[in-house]
Amino acid sequence: MIKCSSIFILAVTVLNNLIPIVAKGLESVHSIGDVLTAEDVEDNRKKKKLKELHGDISFSDVEFCYPDSGHPVLEHLNLHIKQGETIAFVGPSGAGKSTILNMVIGFSKPSGGRILIDGNDITKLNLNSYRKYIAVVPQTSILFSGTIRDNITYGLDDISDEQLQQVLLASNLKEMIDALPDGLDTRIQEHGGNLSGGQRQRISIARAFVRNPKILILDEATSALDTISEKQIQEATHNLAHDRTTLIVAHRLSTIRDADRIAVVENGGIAEIGTYEELIEKKGAFYEMQRMQI
Ligand SMILES: Nc1ncnc2c1ncn2[C@@H]1O[C@H](COP(=O)(O)OP(=O)(O)OP(=O)(O)O)[C@@H](O)[C@H]1O
Ligand SMILES: [Mg+2]
Repeated sequence: MIKCSSIFILAVTVLNNLIPIVAKGLESVHSIGDVLTAEDVEDNRKKKKLKELHGDISFSDVEFCYPDSGHPVLEHLNLHIKQGETIAFVGPSGAGKSTILNMVIGFSKPSGGRILIDGNDITKLNLNSYRKYIAVVPQTSILFSGTIRDNITYGLDDISDEQLQQVLLASNLKEMIDALPDGLDTRIQEHGGNLSGGQRQRISIARAFVRNPKILILDEATSALDTISEKQIQEATHNLAHDRTTLIVAHRLSTIRDADRIAVVENGGIAEIGTYEELIEKKGAFYEMQRMQI
């Protein structure tokens, strides 16, 4: 019997409302700010500070156990994600997809094996320096009451209007914002009450865009959207993923088809991996999953 020991990296933060991240990981991340302000108690000072990041991620025989659970969620996980690649994780609920993303952000630490970031063991990295190159688009984005501009730039003050206009275009927000009398200076109500779910998601994508991350982590929302909204988000996601390492927990067929590779997470590991065509051809787990959905 494998003994699962405590693996969560303890985190504290200056803001009280961010504390749940420690306990819940990615599920409680509502914005990239949450990731950047999550500070680790572990001594970062002796660790390597990254001055650049290419975005090559490698899992080597990784095992993950939650504290007090007798059985590992993931075992013998081996996966190499190349710089610039988009990989979609699919699989049953509870299989460990979010756990994989949490380990890449450094919220959770493997209980066995190693995760290498550009060849560096993640446990030897100064996580604050590493997370500057990561952006997270969470399942549900929390917007704060303030202008649309503030919600997008969120802590960055050196974003030019020209850059912002490019971001709006790539996030499929330009048309909507141009139609507003106050444009970017339109105020968003608490939690984005005056915006649709699709608009909120595109603002969250724009937030990630302005940070120009090397690694993009996306936990796709499961909520149903109308066809137009879905297409707008799909295009924005596609633009954002371009040229950076992207890990997506995917629910939509359009996202899955768009990915360079699909990894089926099941029974503690990656049951199948390949392009959409390869996996359909194989007529294995992924093929069955797709067939069931039709
Ligand atoms: N904080 C936790 N403590 C103990 N067990 C946990 C914790 N978080 C998740 N688990 C367990 O770990 C397993 C993997 O969870 P994970 O969230 O990675 O699944 P998932 O594939 O993302 O599922 P979903 O598709 O429902 O989001 C599940 O069986 C879950 O019950
Ligand atoms: Mg999940």
